[in-house]
Amino acid sequence: MDMIGEIVAFEESALAAIAAAPDAKALEDVRIKFAGRKQGGLRDVQALVGKADPAERPAVGKRFNEAKTKVESALEARQKELARPKAVAGALDITLPGTPLRLGKKHPLVQTMDELKDIMGRFGFSVAEGPEIEDEWHNFEALNIPEDHPARDPLDNFYLAAASVAAANPGGARSSGSGGPVLLRTQTSTVQIRVMEKQRPPVRVVSLGRVFRPDTIDASHSCVFNQMEGLMVDRGVTMAQLKTVIRMLFSSYLEHDVSIRFRPSFFPFTEPSVEVDIPWGDDWMEIGGAGMVDPHVLSAVGYDPDEYTGFAFGLGVERLCMKRHGITDIRRFYENDVRFLRQF
Ligand code: PHE
Repeated sequence: MDMIGEIVAFEESALAAIAAAPDAKALEDVRIKFAGRKQGGLRDVQALVGKADPAERPAVGKRFNEAKTKVESALEARQKELARPKAVAGALDITLPGTPLRLGKKHPLVQTMDELKDIMGRFGFSVAEGPEIEDEWHNFEALNIPEDHPARDPLDNFYLAAASVAAANPGGARSSGSGGPVLLRTQTSTVQIRVMEKQRPPVRVVSLGRVFRPDTIDASHSCVFNQMEGLMVDRGVTMAQLKTVIRMLFSSYLEHDVSIRFRPSFFPFTEPSVEVDIPWGDDWMEIGGAGMVDPHVLSAVGYDPDEYTGFAFGLGVERLCMKRHGITDIRRFYENDVRFLRQF
Protein backbone atom coordinates (compact mmCIF):
# COMPACT_ATOMS: atom_id res chain seq x y z
CA MET A 1 0.00 0.00 0.00
CA ASP A 2 1.35 3.45 -0.78
CA MET A 3 1.80 5.88 2.02
CA ILE A 4 -1.18 8.03 1.20
CA GLY A 5 -3.29 4.87 1.11
CA GLU A 6 -2.10 3.98 4.58
CA ILE A 7 -2.86 7.40 5.94
CA VAL A 8 -6.39 7.23 4.49
CA ALA A 9 -6.93 3.75 5.90
CA PHE A 10 -5.74 4.94 9.32
CA GLU A 11 -8.04 7.95 9.18
CA GLU A 12 -11.05 5.84 8.22
CA SER A 13 -10.63 3.30 10.96
CA ALA A 14 -9.93 6.00 13.57
CA LEU A 15 -13.07 7.97 12.61
CA ALA A 16 -15.19 4.80 12.63
CA ALA A 17 -13.92 3.82 16.08
CA ILE A 18 -14.54 7.31 17.43
CA ALA A 19 -18.11 7.34 16.12
CA ALA A 20 -18.78 3.88 17.55
CA ALA A 21 -17.44 4.59 21.05
CA PRO A 22 -20.50 4.15 23.29
CA ASP A 23 -19.27 6.08 26.31
CA ALA A 24 -16.47 8.27 27.62
CA LYS A 25 -14.42 5.33 28.86
CA ALA A 26 -14.55 3.55 25.49
CA LEU A 27 -13.69 6.79 23.75
CA GLU A 28 -10.63 7.23 25.95
CA ASP A 29 -9.46 3.75 24.87
CA VAL A 30 -10.00 4.73 21.25
CA ARG A 31 -8.02 7.91 21.80
CA ILE A 32 -5.07 6.03 23.28
CA LYS A 33 -5.18 3.47 20.49
CA PHE A 34 -5.27 5.95 17.61
CA ALA A 35 -3.82 9.14 18.98
CA GLY A 36 -1.89 8.35 22.16
CA ARG A 37 1.18 10.46 22.77
CA LYS A 38 3.54 7.67 23.65
CA GLN A 39 2.22 5.07 21.27
CA GLY A 40 -0.74 4.80 18.97
CA GLY A 41 -1.61 4.89 15.31
CA LEU A 42 -0.95 8.53 14.74
CA ARG A 43 2.65 8.19 15.88
CA ASP A 44 3.21 5.17 13.68
CA VAL A 45 1.78 6.92 10.65
CA GLN A 46 3.89 9.96 11.37
CA ALA A 47 6.97 7.74 11.40
CA LEU A 48 6.06 6.64 7.88
CA VAL A 49 6.03 10.22 6.70
CA GLY A 50 9.64 10.55 7.82
CA LYS A 51 10.56 7.64 5.60
CA ALA A 52 8.81 8.97 2.53
CA ASP A 53 10.67 9.59 -0.68
CA PRO A 54 11.84 13.24 -0.59
CA ALA A 55 9.87 13.89 -3.79
CA GLU A 56 6.62 12.58 -2.25
CA ARG A 57 7.20 13.99 1.19
CA PRO A 58 5.31 17.30 0.79
CA ALA A 59 2.14 15.54 -0.47
CA VAL A 60 2.36 12.80 2.16
CA GLY A 61 3.01 15.34 4.90
CA LYS A 62 0.05 17.42 3.84
CA ARG A 63 -2.29 14.42 3.80
CA PHE A 64 -0.97 13.34 7.19
CA ASN A 65 -1.72 16.74 8.70
CA GLU A 66 -5.26 16.61 7.35
CA ALA A 67 -5.82 13.18 8.86
CA LYS A 68 -4.41 14.34 12.20
CA THR A 69 -6.68 17.36 12.37
CA LYS A 70 -9.73 15.36 11.38
CA VAL A 71 -9.11 12.64 13.96
CA GLU A 72 -8.38 15.12 16.73
CA SER A 73 -11.43 17.21 16.11
CA ALA A 74 -13.62 14.09 15.79
CA LEU A 75 -12.33 13.00 19.19
CA GLU A 76 -13.11 16.34 20.71
CA ALA A 77 -16.61 16.48 19.21
CA ARG A 78 -17.46 12.97 20.38
CA GLN A 79 -16.17 13.79 23.86
CA LYS A 80 -18.54 16.73 24.08
CA GLU A 81 -21.41 14.70 22.73
CA LEU A 82 -20.92 11.95 25.30
CA ALA A 83 -20.63 14.46 28.13
CA ARG A 84 -24.10 15.85 27.41
CA PRO A 85 -26.84 14.46 29.69
CA LYS A 86 -28.84 11.72 27.99
CA ALA A 87 -32.51 12.25 27.37
CA VAL A 88 -34.55 9.52 28.98
CA ALA A 89 -37.33 8.43 26.66
CA GLY A 90 -40.45 10.41 27.44
CA ALA A 91 -38.74 12.55 30.06
CA LEU A 92 -37.77 16.19 29.97
CA ASP A 93 -34.83 16.83 27.67
CA ILE A 94 -33.29 19.98 29.06
CA THR A 95 -30.94 20.26 26.09
CA LEU A 96 -33.84 20.97 23.71
CA PRO A 97 -34.77 24.59 23.06
CA GLY A 98 -37.74 25.58 25.23
CA THR A 99 -41.26 26.33 24.09
CA PRO A 100 -41.61 30.09 24.34
CA LEU A 101 -44.36 31.18 26.73
CA ARG A 102 -46.86 33.55 25.19
CA LEU A 103 -47.72 35.97 27.95
CA GLY A 104 -51.07 37.67 27.83
CA LYS A 105 -51.61 41.11 29.26
CA LYS A 106 -54.32 43.30 30.62
CA HIS A 107 -56.75 44.90 28.20
CA PRO A 108 -56.01 48.62 27.73
CA LEU A 109 -59.28 49.53 29.44
CA VAL A 110 -58.41 47.40 32.46
CA GLN A 111 -54.97 49.01 32.52
CA THR A 112 -56.62 52.42 32.40
CA MET A 113 -59.02 51.57 35.22
CA ASP A 114 -56.16 50.24 37.34
CA GLU A 115 -54.26 53.47 36.82
CA LEU A 116 -57.28 55.64 37.58
CA LYS A 117 -57.89 53.73 40.81
CA ASP A 118 -54.25 54.23 41.68
CA ILE A 119 -54.34 57.98 41.10
CA MET A 120 -57.61 58.40 42.99
CA GLY A 121 -56.18 56.25 45.78
CA ARG A 122 -53.42 58.79 46.18
CA PHE A 123 -56.12 61.48 46.56
CA GLY A 124 -57.62 59.43 49.41
CA PHE A 125 -60.47 57.78 47.49
CA SER A 126 -61.16 54.10 48.08
CA VAL A 127 -62.78 51.77 45.56
CA ALA A 128 -66.41 50.63 45.87
CA GLU A 129 -68.12 47.95 43.80
CA GLY A 130 -71.73 47.72 42.66
CA PRO A 131 -73.80 45.29 40.60
CA GLU A 132 -74.29 45.61 36.84
CA ILE A 133 -77.89 44.36 37.17
CA GLU A 134 -79.61 47.05 39.14
CA ASP A 135 -83.04 47.82 40.58
CA GLU A 136 -85.02 50.94 39.76
CA TRP A 137 -84.47 52.35 43.22
CA HIS A 138 -80.69 52.60 42.83
CA ASN A 139 -80.67 53.40 39.12
CA PHE A 140 -83.43 56.04 39.25
CA GLU A 141 -85.49 56.77 42.34
CA ALA A 142 -82.74 57.34 44.86
CA LEU A 143 -80.99 59.46 42.23
CA ASN A 144 -83.99 61.76 42.14
CA ILE A 145 -85.21 60.53 38.75
CA PRO A 146 -89.01 60.41 39.15
CA GLU A 147 -91.31 57.82 37.61
CA ASP A 148 -92.38 60.06 34.74
CA HIS A 149 -88.84 61.14 33.82
CA PRO A 150 -87.90 60.32 30.21
CA ALA A 151 -84.66 58.66 31.42
CA ARG A 152 -86.86 55.79 32.63
CA ASP A 153 -88.33 55.01 29.21
CA PRO A 154 -88.08 51.24 28.53
CA LEU A 155 -86.82 52.17 25.07
CA ASP A 156 -83.87 53.95 26.65
CA ASN A 157 -82.93 51.07 28.95
CA PHE A 158 -82.18 47.37 28.97
CA TYR A 159 -84.84 46.04 31.34
CA LEU A 160 -84.52 42.37 32.14
CA ALA A 161 -87.58 40.23 31.43
CA ALA A 162 -87.05 37.68 34.21
CA ALA A 163 -86.81 40.30 36.87
CA SER A 164 -86.48 39.98 40.55
CA VAL A 165 -84.56 42.24 42.84
CA ALA A 166 -83.80 39.30 45.12
CA ALA A 167 -82.01 37.52 42.30
CA ALA A 168 -80.18 40.65 41.16
CA ASN A 169 -79.26 41.67 44.63
CA PRO A 170 -78.86 38.68 46.92
CA GLY A 171 -77.27 40.85 49.61
CA GLY A 172 -80.66 42.52 49.96
CA ALA A 173 -79.78 46.21 50.06
CA ARG A 174 -82.46 48.54 51.34
CA SER A 175 -84.72 49.07 48.40
CA SER A 176 -88.19 50.40 48.07
CA GLY A 177 -88.45 48.55 44.76
CA SER A 178 -88.12 45.11 46.29
CA GLY A 179 -89.26 42.53 43.76
CA GLY A 180 -89.67 45.25 41.11
CA PRO A 181 -88.20 45.52 37.66
CA VAL A 182 -84.43 45.27 37.19
CA LEU A 183 -82.27 46.58 34.39
CA LEU A 184 -78.67 46.76 33.27
CA ARG A 185 -77.41 49.88 35.04
CA THR A 186 -77.26 52.96 32.83
CA GLN A 187 -74.72 54.75 35.02
CA THR A 188 -72.33 54.03 37.86
CA SER A 189 -74.10 56.72 39.94
CA THR A 190 -76.03 53.77 41.41
CA VAL A 191 -72.95 53.02 43.49
CA GLN A 192 -73.12 56.49 45.10
CA ILE A 193 -76.40 55.42 46.65
CA ARG A 194 -75.16 51.96 47.64
CA VAL A 195 -72.17 53.50 49.41
CA MET A 196 -74.15 56.22 51.22
CA GLU A 197 -76.75 53.68 52.36
CA LYS A 198 -74.03 51.79 54.19
CA GLN A 199 -71.66 54.49 55.33
CA ARG A 200 -71.79 57.78 57.22
CA PRO A 201 -69.78 60.80 56.04
CA PRO A 202 -67.00 61.51 55.38
CA VAL A 203 -67.21 59.59 52.11
CA ARG A 204 -64.51 59.47 49.45
CA VAL A 205 -65.01 56.68 46.92
CA VAL A 206 -64.65 55.86 43.27
CA SER A 207 -66.39 53.05 41.46
CA LEU A 208 -65.45 51.80 38.03
CA GLY A 209 -67.29 49.49 35.72
CA ARG A 210 -69.59 48.84 32.80
CA VAL A 211 -72.77 50.72 32.03
CA PHE A 212 -75.36 49.90 29.38
CA ARG A 213 -77.37 52.16 27.09
CA PRO A 214 -79.20 51.37 23.88
CA ASP A 215 -77.18 53.98 22.00
CA THR A 216 -76.26 53.87 18.34
CA ILE A 217 -72.69 52.72 18.02
CA ASP A 218 -70.22 55.03 16.26
CA ALA A 219 -66.60 56.11 16.61
CA SER A 220 -67.21 57.75 19.98
CA HIS A 221 -70.26 55.85 21.31
CA SER A 222 -70.83 52.30 22.41
CA CYS A 223 -73.90 50.70 23.99
CA VAL A 224 -71.65 49.18 26.65
CA PHE A 225 -68.86 51.32 28.06
CA ASN A 226 -67.05 51.98 31.31
CA GLN A 227 -67.45 54.84 33.73
CA MET A 228 -65.57 55.99 36.75
CA GLU A 229 -67.88 57.40 39.36
CA GLY A 230 -66.47 59.59 42.09
CA LEU A 231 -68.19 60.75 45.27
CA MET A 232 -66.96 62.92 48.08
CA VAL A 233 -69.25 63.97 50.94
CA ASP A 234 -68.17 65.83 54.03
CA ARG A 235 -68.67 69.09 55.82
CA GLY A 236 -67.81 72.02 53.55
CA VAL A 237 -67.13 70.18 50.26
CA THR A 238 -67.17 72.69 47.38
CA MET A 239 -67.39 72.82 43.62
CA ALA A 240 -63.86 74.27 43.51
CA GLN A 241 -62.66 71.01 45.06
CA LEU A 242 -64.60 69.08 42.42
CA LYS A 243 -62.86 70.94 39.63
CA THR A 244 -59.45 70.59 41.26
CA VAL A 245 -59.83 66.85 41.77
CA ILE A 246 -60.92 66.24 38.16
CA ARG A 247 -58.16 68.43 36.80
CA MET A 248 -55.51 66.78 38.93
CA LEU A 249 -56.84 63.36 37.94
CA PHE A 250 -56.64 64.15 34.22
CA SER A 251 -53.23 65.77 34.54
CA SER A 252 -51.87 62.72 36.37
CA TYR A 253 -53.37 60.23 33.95
CA LEU A 254 -52.42 62.14 30.79
CA GLU A 255 -49.03 63.09 32.26
CA HIS A 256 -49.27 66.76 31.40
CA ASP A 257 -51.16 69.75 32.67
CA VAL A 258 -54.70 69.57 31.23
CA SER A 259 -57.27 72.33 31.02
CA ILE A 260 -60.83 71.22 31.57
CA ARG A 261 -64.07 72.95 30.73
CA PHE A 262 -67.22 72.85 32.84
CA ARG A 263 -70.42 73.48 30.85
CA PRO A 264 -73.67 74.10 32.75
CA SER A 265 -75.94 71.09 32.47
CA PHE A 266 -78.64 69.18 34.28
CA PHE A 267 -78.67 65.91 36.18
CA PRO A 268 -81.53 65.14 38.57
CA PHE A 269 -79.08 64.05 41.29
CA THR A 270 -76.71 67.04 41.25
CA GLU A 271 -77.31 70.75 41.62
CA PRO A 272 -75.59 72.62 40.09
CA SER A 273 -74.62 70.19 37.35
CA VAL A 274 -71.97 70.40 34.64
CA GLU A 275 -70.66 68.53 31.65
CA VAL A 276 -66.92 68.02 31.82
CA ASP A 277 -64.95 68.56 28.59
CA ILE A 278 -61.31 68.04 27.69
CA PRO A 279 -59.42 69.43 24.67
CA TRP A 280 -59.77 67.19 21.60
CA GLY A 281 -57.80 68.43 18.61
CA ASP A 282 -58.99 71.99 18.00
CA ASP A 283 -62.21 71.25 19.78
CA TRP A 284 -63.52 69.90 23.09
CA MET A 285 -64.71 66.40 23.87
CA GLU A 286 -67.30 65.63 26.52
CA ILE A 287 -65.82 63.18 28.96
CA GLY A 288 -68.53 62.99 31.60
CA GLY A 289 -70.91 64.73 33.97
CA ALA A 290 -70.46 66.11 37.44
CA GLY A 291 -71.95 68.37 40.05
CA MET A 292 -72.77 68.97 43.69
CA VAL A 293 -74.85 66.16 45.17
CA ASP A 294 -78.49 67.27 45.26
CA PRO A 295 -79.79 67.78 48.83
CA HIS A 296 -82.71 65.46 48.02
CA VAL A 297 -80.29 62.64 47.31
CA LEU A 298 -78.50 63.28 50.61
CA SER A 299 -81.78 63.23 52.57
CA ALA A 300 -82.94 60.06 50.79
CA VAL A 301 -79.98 58.19 52.23
CA GLY A 302 -80.38 59.77 55.66
CA TYR A 303 -77.63 62.41 55.48
CA ASP A 304 -78.44 65.88 56.78
CA PRO A 305 -78.06 68.26 53.80
CA ASP A 306 -77.66 71.20 56.15
CA GLU A 307 -74.60 69.58 57.65
CA TYR A 308 -73.01 67.90 54.65
CA THR A 309 -72.30 68.76 51.06
CA GLY A 310 -70.72 66.63 48.41
CA PHE A 311 -69.60 66.44 44.84
CA ALA A 312 -69.99 63.60 42.36
CA PHE A 313 -68.68 62.90 38.89
CA GLY A 314 -69.08 60.20 36.28
CA LEU A 315 -66.37 59.99 33.60
CA GLY A 316 -65.99 57.89 30.48
CA VAL A 317 -63.03 55.55 30.86
CA GLU A 318 -62.80 54.77 27.12
CA ARG A 319 -62.58 58.41 26.12
CA LEU A 320 -59.81 59.10 28.62
CA CYS A 321 -57.83 56.14 27.31
CA MET A 322 -58.47 57.31 23.72
CA LYS A 323 -57.20 60.76 24.59
CA ARG A 324 -54.01 59.41 26.13
CA HIS A 325 -53.15 57.05 23.28
CA GLY A 326 -54.56 58.99 20.34
CA ILE A 327 -57.16 56.30 19.58
CA THR A 328 -59.80 57.68 17.26
CA ASP A 329 -62.41 54.90 17.26
CA ILE A 330 -63.96 53.50 20.45
CA ARG A 331 -64.90 50.26 18.66
CA ARG A 332 -61.23 49.17 18.62
CA PHE A 333 -61.53 48.38 22.33
CA TYR A 334 -64.17 45.72 21.79
CA GLU A 335 -63.03 43.98 18.60
CA ASN A 336 -60.42 41.80 20.31
CA ASP A 337 -57.96 42.32 17.49
CA VAL A 338 -54.62 41.33 19.00
CA ARG A 339 -52.75 43.60 16.58
CA PHE A 340 -54.45 46.50 18.34
CA LEU A 341 -54.37 45.08 21.87
CA ARG A 342 -50.69 44.13 21.76
CA GLN A 343 -49.73 47.79 21.48
CA PHE A 344 -50.63 48.52 25.09
N1 PHE B 1 -74.30 59.56 35.79
C1 PHE B 1 -74.12 60.62 34.85
C2 PHE B 1 -74.11 60.05 33.44
O1 PHE B 1 -73.90 58.88 33.29
C3 PHE B 1 -72.85 61.38 35.09
C4 PHE B 1 -72.80 62.05 36.42
C5 PHE B 1 -72.27 61.41 37.51
C6 PHE B 1 -73.31 63.32 36.56
C7 PHE B 1 -72.20 62.04 38.73
C8 PHE B 1 -73.25 63.96 37.77
C9 PHE B 1 -72.70 63.32 38.84
O2 PHE B 1 -74.28 60.76 32.48
